[in-house]
Amino acid sequence: MLVNAEKMLKDAKKGKYAVAQFNINNLEWTKYILEEAQELETDIILGVSEGAIKYMGGYNVVFSIVDSLVKDLGININVCLHLDHGSTFESCKKAVDAGFTSIMIDASKYPIEDNIKLTKEVVDYAHSKGVTVEAEIGRISGTEDNLYDEKYNASLEECILLVTKTGIDFLAPALGSVHGLYNGEPNLDFSTMKQLNQKLNIPLVLHGGTGICESDLKKAITCGICKINFNTELQIAWTKGIKDFMNSNENIYDPRKIISSGEKNIKQIVREKIRILSNK
Ligand code: 13P
Repeated sequence: MLVNAEKMLKDAKKGKYAVAQFNINNLEWTKYILEEAQELETDIILGVSEGAIKYMGGYNVVFSIVDSLVKDLGININVCLHLDHGSTFESCKKAVDAGFTSIMIDASKYPIEDNIKLTKEVVDYAHSKGVTVEAEIGRISGTEDNLYDEKYNASLEECILLVTKTGIDFLAPALGSVHGLYNGEPNLDFSTMKQLNQKLNIPLVLHGGTGICESDLKKAITCGICKINFNTELQIAWTKGIKDFMNSNENIYDPRKIISSGEKNIKQIVREKIRILSNK
């Protein structure tokens, strides 16, 4: 069933676990992630960046793929379709209008007043349609579609302002994580995470899940993180599956065989992350 993220993240906060957001890049990944989550009977968030939406053909295409797979595969777990790093009001509106159940407005590149203004506009529109909203503050750098060279951590004061002035449902504070591969070891600011959790009664989100070790992921959950995003790790695993297959099957040209040679690897990562995040 397609749902917004409100209940699943509130439940996660109460139960001291986190829900995984896996980013999707095509039809096949979406199918693999849904099948694995269904098998594990767990709530799941499918994140889609603006770049992936463009690649897949548009907001309506993405919605139709997810909605149709949920129906045709008989998926009966809770599935949230979430816009990852929406950069403008128009982009967020397109996602809401297409049927996405949750969106992220990432106005973190703007000064705090402008971040608040844009985020609030998005919240007003999304909430009027029953869609949940995530917002970001501080700067998460890395290699996603939203390329920022610099990175800086969110301050407690700014996080409180953004949450209280906008009414967002969950907050992604930049606290040392990066998108893509880490240059060295991740250095997460658990202390600010903990303080935010004490001061703000909303679920916190950790971006850049790739490369963060199991113990740090678990520690983040104890500090209030209820949603953790993974993308790069799936990309690396899937590409390895394809390369291995192509190297030993040079004469195969059926795209179904080639593309699905990454299925096992994707499903393995999904299973492993869900195990870690479920905190059992
Ligand atoms: P990684 O690509 O580092 O796993 O991060 C994904 C992410 O945070 C998407 O918003």
